[in-house]
Amino acid sequence: MTCTTTVCLLYNCIQNAVCGRWMLLSTVHSVLYIVLQANIHFPLIQSVAILLVNRMCFDYISRLFSGLIYFGHIRHLSEMATTTGVHTKARSSPYPGSTVNRTTVPDDKVDWSAEWKDYSPVEYTAPSVKAGPVWADVDITSENDSKKFKFNLIDGKVNRKSHCSKYTTPGGIPRNPNGRTGMNGRGLLGKWGPNHAADPIVTRWKRDKKGKQILDPTSGKPVLQFVSIMRKDSGVWAIPGGMVDAGERVSVTLKREFGEEALNSIDIPDKERKSTEKEIAALFKHGYEVYRGYVDDPRNTDNAWMETIAVNFHDEKGKSVGKFNLTAGDDAQDAHWADISSDLSLYASHEEFIHITAVHRKAHWDAKS
Ligand code: BGC
Repeated sequence: MTCTTTVCLLYNCIQNAVCGRWMLLSTVHSVLYIVLQANIHFPLIQSVAILLVNRMCFDYISRLFSGLIYFGHIRHLSEMATTTGVHTKARSSPYPGSTVNRTTVPDDKVDWSAEWKDYSPVEYTAPSVKAGPVWADVDITSENDSKKFKFNLIDGKVNRKSHCSKYTTPGGIPRNPNGRTGMNGRGLLGKWGPNHAADPIVTRWKRDKKGKQILDPTSGKPVLQFVSIMRKDSGVWAIPGGMVDAGERVSVTLKREFGEEALNSIDIPDKERKSTEKEIAALFKHGYEVYRGYVDDPRNTDNAWMETIAVNFHDEKGKSVGKFNLTAGDDAQDAHWADISSDLSLYASHEEFIHITAVHRKAHWDAKS
């Protein structure tokens, strides 16, 4: 949740208190607000709800607060737009793991509503996907083939729903809701449409040898650290996330991926292993959802794209996961506790997830915030 959102929710609480006798109406208002948090496509409903609630309350103070909420919300939407807005990594060339260059898509032609009659994206599905591993869909070569898939639905064990909104399927093939990428097909991604991942952001406070929190000299705020891994596929630092397996709960993916990529390699004495595992399980019970939605990933195409749920698990006292040094395992070639600041350069949209986490924990980000 961004700072503005927190402020908005605070206003909402005050409003509930002020309009005590209109609690029911205020609750409806709050519920609609939460719905809006989950889906940015409802600003109209939000405005109408605010007007209705206000008309019924006849309460000027409430109107003032609602106005502030709405103003805050518009700002919140514009902040979210940086996370879900015009993708850039999804238009980059060459495509990862290949020498294939995408058709260049200028910024003003990303949106599907921008007219581009001669748009001709490069067709590419990686040989490793065409080979038909268990995690990949079969090819769609005709509109009839696409009827095998239940797009926008839970299809057997596969979740083909998007976190963002319903996506369209012209000619039976899913279309990237964030716009043109200059490439058709699935590239390295197995699924037509959304490919779901989960990202565990495990954090602790940076401390000195005596265990005292270290403050950044420019912002005066405490420095937060997160478990970062270097991806084997690209050599880029990232959150140790991974794909949600078919039928798997996201909470399970989060713990599994963290275990496989960052923890497997922890050097824990055997007699401490059981208790450490318990502490980790406890840490993973209380996550704070940082982000849910589209990811600007270099593997995205016009017909297949990455979405993720990023959750922050924070070890406040540094007594469970926070007490270990790390080395890498599985899909990672290196792992460490990275200091969080605006200097980080991470895979896909991961910098933005880390930024939201820093703001939420009131940690250092840059000299200004
Ligand atoms: C990674 C996740 C990432 C997702 C989207 C997955 O392959 O493991 O960390 O968020 O792709 O980029």
